[in-house]
Amino acid sequence: MNANASRFDPRRRRWLGAALLVLAVPLPRAVRAQGRQAAAAQRIGVIGSGRIGGTIGGLWVKAGHPVLFSSRHPEALKPLVEELGPLARAGTVAEAIAFSDVLFLATPYGALPQLSRDHADAWKGKIVLDATNAYEHRDGPITEEAKRDGIGLTTARYLRGARVVRAFNFMGAAQFASEHHRPGGLVAVPIAGDDKAALDVAAQLVRDAGFEPVVVGPLSSADRFAPGGPLFRQVGTAEEFRRKMGGR
Ligand SMILES: NC(=O)c1ccc[n+]([C@@H]2O[C@H](COP(=O)([O-])OP(=O)(O)OC[C@H]3O[C@@H](n4cnc5c(N)ncnc54)[C@H](OP(=O)(O)O)[C@@H]3O)[C@@H](O)[C@H]2O)c1
Repeated sequence: MNANASRFDPRRRRWLGAALLVLAVPLPRAVRAQGRQAAAAQRIGVIGSGRIGGTIGGLWVKAGHPVLFSSRHPEALKPLVEELGPLARAGTVAEAIAFSDVLFLATPYGALPQLSRDHADAWKGKIVLDATNAYEHRDGPITEEAKRDGIGLTTARYLRGARVVRAFNFMGAAQFASEHHRPGGLVAVPIAGDDKAALDVAAQLVRDAGFEPVVVGPLSSADRFAPGGPLFRQVGTAEEFRRKMGGR
């Protein structure tokens, strides 16, 4: 970590550590080759470049995708993007939206009303991979909306016109950092969405991060693998995960 890190608060240092752990683990040679030659590189904008955003965004950079990590304080992301190399940039949330083919949403759920207000028309047509989870103690009243209407459908209502796919929310950032490209059986990552083309893009990005996508169903099914759902934190191979989906 370079000298800029000393400006970080301790919380920020902890998640940056998790994201940098991703960088310390070398990818298998075949994956490295495939990643760096990725013909289908996606321009990815990360909104909320903390523990989960930094970790998954770092895996995509390693796979060969250009990633703009955003923050309300972009200068604080300098150590992360310097460590990740030329495919990584830091910027504002507006810059991330403008830059991207695909957005990765990884803020506290309580940030949605503000993101909705501040970038009202910018979401239209964007593929948004939504890794957020809603917790009453942190996110307040919107948690009730997510419980009542479904977390995926609630995100889609706030990000008007976005093609929302729920992904990367079912287990912890530290596990994503340690379990990617698991030898002997990739770990399954459940995804859910209503837009077939967006689901296909999300599935490929799950593979590029070193996991196996499992489509659970439409956006309304995303609660099955959100906190409190039966598939939350069910870590295993795709086969094991599908067995659990079937209740076996
Ligand atoms: N950590 C995990 O293991 C994990 C696993 C699965 C799902 N999730 C979910 O993923 C989301 C992020 O969790 P995290 O642990 O990565 O949180 P985190 O480390 O606190 O990072 C969240 C980031 O969101 C940004 N942010 C906060 N409010 C914002 C706003 N109003 N507008 C724009 N950006 C805002 C902050 O960036 P700036 O302050 O720099 O702007 C912060 O760095 C949560 O919904 C969480 O429930 C987390």
